[in-house]
Amino acid sequence: MADQTQVGAPSAENVESAKVKMRARDVSVYYGNKKAIDEVSVDVFSEYVTAFIGPSGCGKSTFLRALNRMNDTIPSARVEGTIELDGEDIYSSGMDVVQLRARVGMVFQKPNPFPKSIYDNVAYGPKIHGLAEGKTELDAIVEKSLTRAGLWEEVKDRLQDSGTALSGGQQQRLCIARAIAVDPEVILMDEPCSALDPIATARIEELIDDLRGRYAIVIVTHSMQQAARVSQRTAFFHLGHLVEYGHTSDIFTNPKQQRTQDYITGRYG
Ligand SMILES: Nc1ncnc2c1ncn2[C@@H]1O[C@H](COP(=O)(O)OP(=O)(O)OP(=O)(O)O)[C@@H](O)[C@H]1O
Ligand SMILES: [Mg+2]
Repeated sequence: MADQTQVGAPSAENVESAKVKMRARDVSVYYGNKKAIDEVSVDVFSEYVTAFIGPSGCGKSTFLRALNRMNDTIPSARVEGTIELDGEDIYSSGMDVVQLRARVGMVFQKPNPFPKSIYDNVAYGPKIHGLAEGKTELDAIVEKSLTRAGLWEEVKDRLQDSGTALSGGQQQRLCIARAIAVDPEVILMDEPCSALDPIATARIEELIDDLRGRYAIVIVTHSMQQAARVSQRTAFFHLGHLVEYGHTSDIFTNPKQQRTQDYITGRYG
């Protein structure tokens, strides 16, 4: 079982509740001979949103992809160190990668619905994973997932329309519904709002806040305001290193490292 661990200076209100969902230790990621991530150790907590921030090219996406073995799809990529999900090594030979990616779902920068109906976008995963007995159960999963993703009311009368016909913000909520449909434990989001306008962004941020009671969420963002608004933990990356990790409020108001201070005050990046 995951144990109780605190990162950074524990503050009284959080001590009892933080439960480690994923534990990364000394993780390095190489592309060929190039080291993109250098011995990063991070805990991801249940029911918390963890934000990864840092300048472009510092390795945020690379590290995020290591958390559900998406780097496996890049031939030159190699991962060292250990990453555990509920204490289980996700890189062990016995790990079923398809299962892992259902447990640790991903939402990408650019909304990428399948060129299928809204219904089928959400039903696809549960069908593949055999999560529904029949049509009634599948319908219920689709409705529940779209409801949780805050999209049901907008699409309930047009479930057979193509997912690609939705607006950008709706498409991103559809992708979140698709991730939720297979009942994940962790949701990884790589700049999920960067292609969206401020109103669609605000909806996704509200949604993230609603969802966090149920899942461990990790979000990569270039917006420090967004990190400050949605996350409880923040990790600051620079040049492949984890510079600082702690309570979001500490990182933004009282960082320990000069490099963090420089970044959050806009000196570089
Ligand atoms: N598929 C790849 N093959 C080779 N090198 C890569 C690959 N993907 C990323 N890199 C390199 O690894 C480093 C980290 O890239 P990564 O995309 O993880 O950064 P990032 O922090 O997500 O940047 P951004 O904020 O621009 O998305 C960069 O030097 C990048 O060029
Ligand atoms: Mg990136």
